[in-house]
Amino acid sequence: MSEVPLEENVGAIRFGERLLRGEVAVAVFMTGVGTRTLMEVLHRRYRQRDLLGALAGAALIARGPKPIAALRALGLSTVIPVPEPNTWREVLEVMDTSEGCPNLSGLTVAVQEYGTPNRPFLEELRKRGAEVLQVPVYRWTLPSDTRPLCRAIDALIAGTCQVALFTNSVQVSHLFQLASQQRKADALRHALNGTVTASIGPNCSQALRRELVRVDLEAGQPNMACLVEEASSRGAGMTRSKEASPSSRVVFPVEVDSGTQDPSTCNPLDSSVFMRACRRQSTEYTPVWLMRQAGRYMAEYRAIRSRTSFLGLCKNSDLAAEVTVTAAHRLGVDAAIIFADILLIVEPMGLGLTFEDGEGPSIQGVIRSQAEVDRLSEVNPEESLSFVFDAVRKARAGLRSDLPLIGFAGAPFTLASYITEGGGSKNYIHTKELMYRHPGAWDSMMQLISRSVTRYLNGQIRAGAQAVQLFDSWAGCLSPEDYRRSVLPYTVQVIENIRPRVPVIYFSTGTGGYLELVASTGADVIGVDWRIDLARAWAKIGEGQAVQGNLDPLALLGDPGSIADKAGEILDRVGGRPGHIFNLGHGILPQTSVDHVVRLVDAVHERSRKAGSSDGGDCLKQTKRKKRVIHEDTRRTSKGH
Ligand code: CP3
Repeated sequence: MSEVPLEENVGAIRFGERLLRGEVAVAVFMTGVGTRTLMEVLHRRYRQRDLLGALAGAALIARGPKPIAALRALGLSTVIPVPEPNTWREVLEVMDTSEGCPNLSGLTVAVQEYGTPNRPFLEELRKRGAEVLQVPVYRWTLPSDTRPLCRAIDALIAGTCQVALFTNSVQVSHLFQLASQQRKADALRHALNGTVTASIGPNCSQALRRELVRVDLEAGQPNMACLVEEASSRGAGMTRSKEASPSSRVVFPVEVDSGTQDPSTCNPLDSSVFMRACRRQSTEYTPVWLMRQAGRYMAEYRAIRSRTSFLGLCKNSDLAAEVTVTAAHRLGVDAAIIFADILLIVEPMGLGLTFEDGEGPSIQGVIRSQAEVDRLSEVNPEESLSFVFDAVRKARAGLRSDLPLIGFAGAPFTLASYITEGGGSKNYIHTKELMYRHPGAWDSMMQLISRSVTRYLNGQIRAGAQAVQLFDSWAGCLSPEDYRRSVLPYTVQVIENIRPRVPVIYFSTGTGGYLELVASTGADVIGVDWRIDLARAWAKIGEGQAVQGNLDPLALLGDPGSIADKAGEILDRVGGRPGHIFNLGHGILPQTSVDHVVRLVDAVHERSRKAGSSDGGDCLKQTKRKKRVIHEDTRRTSKGH
């Protein structure tokens, strides 16, 4: 990376003017180089004495030893230090608790910025009533000679590196920026997930996770010596265990590097609006898909269903793929979901499963004791659920090349509830009884389900799914403490073992009271139902995760105008933040009009589209143009018949 001081540094000059007028109450210095550059700019315009006098009148906060040293060098000694690991969270804590820092409400707080602005930090300052003055003083750019970086990308993809060390977050974005230019981003992501990836500290780890890279090791102290020492002492053992795990080394086809940028041949799935939103990257418009988008409300589905039973349909991979593709193309949504059911996995566990029309599912051979748990079979999905993997492969082949396919499974708790209750339930009596009275049996059942679900989801990813969703539809019947103790660890176990790493969406209903716990599963996207305001939900979840939701499915029974308005209200709550995937708060009901669903999808696209937006680059625009043409064709065909 190379550092570029801004020639026309308007932000720094505005800061200087307000500082000298005595309007800046608190100044936060984030980096040493930034602090020095800022002072150089100011020294060119103002007298040293005036400048130091003005700075002495403000509370000065230094994020780490380097900005402290830069301020000390100017003779400023009353600086409030920030403890390690020196992230914005510690800065905020110091501002909240230090006696030297005034209450921020109504005051102007200047923040010296490095690289991109730290939005969560700025938002927290604003929440405390501060007027934030952003002071950008320098930015990072790619180095003038990018060849060493390109060589690193190729070596990682070729598998000749066993350990990758990252010493700051900008390196992560530069590496991926270059890899995407060469259409190697996916290959790089897969390669890093098969390599021991070590990060210098929490910000760097977060940047890696945002690129869907698993962080194997984070330095105990955020410095190079510590990172290198820990990577050398622990890295070798980790390499061996990664090699021993068959799922971690993924053979990934490396795209041929033509050397020139041709947007039409970029990876359209990776740069689709849905995948970008999962990674919390900005998008031209808000992606939308709908739970149960293939189902009885749709005539095409009913026509196929009239010829076969529901289970027969799920097990016929040609028909399941057809239903998946037809629904997604017909609605114009931004992702397809494989047609299947969360309960298919209970048959290979040794239980009976039937769906009577209008009755919902029924499970035979329910599990309510340790002896019964012991009779459950371990699921080998490659054998017993291969029809789902076939359907994924066929759906992938039939879908537009820019339309991601979502695989799914039931989350351990919701599956456990079906297995113990024998079907749907009102009070979950048997489930809770097993959980409270036989914790050992509960644990072994949840372990078995978690292992099976993990293998099942990983199989769907290998078959071609770009993302996976865990449905925890009934988790809302639990108290926060029961959820934390008896459900969360198993959900985390599944999510942590998803390989190859793709975005994981974790959906639950009725969990608005403990969304922080739901978010702590570590899923990339958190599905939210309609019982909670989406902005409030997101505040509880935190900025680190994307959010999916949250229109009441019953809103689709209203007239098209009111549907569009309700969708608009949700988009307003989000306020253009990246990382929102529009969806219902639960599945579409059979009584819904297809026309209303299409209107909803169009309204979400129209109302969220940013005028003149260029986010996502040429690659995305190209895909979008293709998409519209195909939509028109599909609509014409569906109207014509
Ligand atoms: O979203 C999609 O388009 C993919 C298909 C899908 C189905 N079920 C098809 C289905 C998905 C993602 C599911 C998940 C599922 N299945 C969940 C979690 C989501 C939720 O709704 O909470 C649950 C709890 C089930 C279990 C299940 N399957 C129930 C309770 C029922 C009966 C209720 C009903 O809607 O009929 C089913 C049957 C089912 N699964 C149908 C469909 C299209 C209807 C079956 C039919 O054609 O008669």
